[in-house]
Amino acid sequence: MRVPFIAGNWKMNLTHLEAIAFLEQFHAKFENKNECEIAICPPFTALRSVKTVLDEQNMDVALGAQNMFYEQSGAYTGEVSPLMLKALEAEYVILGHSERREVFKETNQMVNQKIKSAFTNGLKPILCIGETLDIRESGKEEDFVLGQLEQCLEGLEIKDMVQITVAYEPIWAIGTGKTATVEDANGMCRAIRDKLSQLYGSETADAVRIQYGGSVKPGNISELMAASDIDGALVGGASLKAEDFLAIVNY
Ligand code: PGA
Repeated sequence: MRVPFIAGNWKMNLTHLEAIAFLEQFHAKFENKNECEIAICPPFTALRSVKTVLDEQNMDVALGAQNMFYEQSGAYTGEVSPLMLKALEAEYVILGHSERREVFKETNQMVNQKIKSAFTNGLKPILCIGETLDIRESGKEEDFVLGQLEQCLEGLEIKDMVQITVAYEPIWAIGTGKTATVEDANGMCRAIRDKLSQLYGSETADAVRIQYGGSVKPGNISELMAASDIDGALVGGASLKAEDFLAIVNY
């Protein structure tokens, strides 16, 4: 049985002070009736504060980062290392988000190096993959997404694979208010699982959690979570409001 996994990706939003205010509201109404695993992925600058408040409030919510570099230390001005995230007690790290790929030109090869480094350093990656609207309209979305998956996972061992979360995020649905239909989202999540089965065997494929991301909100989460191969959600905009994020967690 895969435990549902809902993660909030705050992107470049909320200062550490705003993060603390968010958590006060979140804690006041906290409920987790589906017994999901929940993670919050704030910007680097709020990781410490978020962790401190979660611990003080005794909340069973994991901490995640939104990116990292693959080296442990050195002359990489502006980068954050996996060891630094580990020292802050982060458990998860989002890797290969489409905004990192589009704006910061991250390639599948870089994402692959980051995933390997995350495992070496005891962090669990949330690997994001997804196609643009052009690719979907050309009908080649499955080849594209499965190609990303294969390249990002190259050389990974089976023992690590069960710890990975794959987030299928069609780029045209991110922050646009357009959600993929449940059929399309689930169809791609199933194709991802089939590919994982081919690469790592069915036992591993059955254990890996696959999230959908792209305009997830309180009004569409239930139908997404009812689909056979969607095990959770990576939530951007709607994770910035405590009430909405709680409604999503308690779909
Ligand atoms: P969104 O973002 O929920 O705001 O569409 C999702 C994401 O980019 O992870």
